[in-house]
Amino acid sequence: MHNDTEKQYLLKAIDEFVGRLIVVSPDFEIIAANYKVKKLHGSSIIGRYCHEVFWGRPSPCDNCAVVEAQTKSKASLRPKPADIFQKHRIPCYYAYPIYDQNHIVSYVSVDFDLPINSGLEEKFQRTNAFLKNLILNAVDCVIAADRKGNILIYNDMASKVFGYSSDEALDSLNIRDIYPEGVAYEVMRKLRSDEYGGKGKLRQLQVDGVAKNGEAIPILLNATIIYEDGEEVATIGFFHDLRDEIEMKDKLDQTRLQLLQAEKMASLGKLAAGVAHQINNPLGGITLFTKLILEENELAENIEEDLNRILKDAERCRETVKELLEFTRQTRYLKQPCDINEAVSRTLFLVKDQVLFHNIEIKKELSPTLPKISADIQQLNHVFMNIILNAAQAMEGRGVLTLESGLTRDSERVFIRIMDTGAGIPDDKLPHIFDPFYTTKEEGEGTGLGLSLAYSIIKNHGGTVNAENNPDGGASFTIEIPLKTGEENERTEL
Ligand SMILES: Nc1ncnc2c1ncn2[C@@H]1O[C@H](COP(=O)(O)OP(=O)(O)OP(=O)(O)O)[C@@H](O)[C@H]1O
Ligand SMILES: [Mg+2]
Repeated sequence: MHNDTEKQYLLKAIDEFVGRLIVVSPDFEIIAANYKVKKLHGSSIIGRYCHEVFWGRPSPCDNCAVVEAQTKSKASLRPKPADIFQKHRIPCYYAYPIYDQNHIVSYVSVDFDLPINSGLEEKFQRTNAFLKNLILNAVDCVIAADRKGNILIYNDMASKVFGYSSDEALDSLNIRDIYPEGVAYEVMRKLRSDEYGGKGKLRQLQVDGVAKNGEAIPILLNATIIYEDGEEVATIGFFHDLRDEIEMKDKLDQTRLQLLQAEKMASLGKLAAGVAHQINNPLGGITLFTKLILEENELAENIEEDLNRILKDAERCRETVKELLEFTRQTRYLKQPCDINEAVSRTLFLVKDQVLFHNIEIKKELSPTLPKISADIQQLNHVFMNIILNAAQAMEGRGVLTLESGLTRDSERVFIRIMDTGAGIPDDKLPHIFDPFYTTKEEGEGTGLGLSLAYSIIKNHGGTVNAENNPDGGASFTIEIPLKTGEENERTEL
């Protein structure tokens, strides 16, 4: 075949080649490009730098095959393994030098990005794509970072949980930013030690993450260091958002408490109903016969007075029994407009005549103009009862019990403060008093449930309950309940 024709065919063959083929000078200027490249980037690329044209970079790409061909003075194949760990994909896959006599004058760079049907490469690409998909769509956050903390992988779930978009994360986020200060360092220290799941591994560490909006997110972290030729190149972390689990656990705890409450109240209720029945009958007799005697004429005045007192006291007994029944009758949770002062007074009515309260002065500083709140009055009675009993117990039956109510400054909540002059709560115990089963009382005297029940009831009303020590001794419990607490007549079966 004629030499020229052969050259023509050769040129055509290069042009028809499915991949991108360029010839670059040793300083990366494009000297020639095949049809495919020109179609994609225009003919004006000749004379420009390849890294700038293809990747918008001012300098040669990391891992460029031409660079390797240059250093080794021989052909270099840089397929794109592990490109999921590379922020910038490898632009040049295969490069080889062109010699003029003994000098290298230029390099050919061939891009195998389009599938060439050699089985291995295709399989490799498919596996790669599969892995990428797997990571991007994983149900947990997957975040990988290089040694400096620059983000290399950041999947969809990570965007959802941490709030940074994928672009934002890859461009400007540092792995340290998703932890509270110092924690990233701590995580790396644990990863490198072999005590937390083996060297380079970290299993099931519970840490706090920090979202873009500053929210702390409880996380269960599993992480691994990725080594290449024995050197650390990146870390990859699998972050499991624990918020749903924690919320569910809280709800379960609350339900358990409510059940305990219901149980406690049910047995109290049964007892009360029995006692009420036994008391009501003789009370009926007392009232009836007193009235009969009163109807007789010519009673001495002082006797009439005494009889009226008997009637009044019998009436009081009946009231007490009725209150006791009301108090313990609790089968469901029902919010209705209610007067918080009345709830406090009703509780006091039940306790004030008990021996424990005989030497306790009760001061009521209740605001007379409180608006009604939507609440379950019986549940609130339990709360006040628990706190008032605790106060009386803390004062060992002697002191001043002050009950205050009012509106908070922003007028959005009512507050009730119950203050005693007892020994107060030691600072180290203060964080625990609302925990279920926490008690400092002797066995048989306290179950440690009173305040935890109070807490869960107030939480159900969208409110808060706080304890503190008074500057001049004794403890104060302050309950705040929002005026608007959701639907009225909202029922929750216990
Ligand atoms: N007014 C108070 N002054 C000092 N300590 C208090 C006061 N109220 C509560 N405490 C402390 O908090 C603990 C927990 O109170 P809580 O009402 O939950 O349980 P309890 O009173 O010990 O038992 P229970 O109420 O189930 O009979 C108490 O044991 C006590 O140590
Ligand atoms: Mg108690």
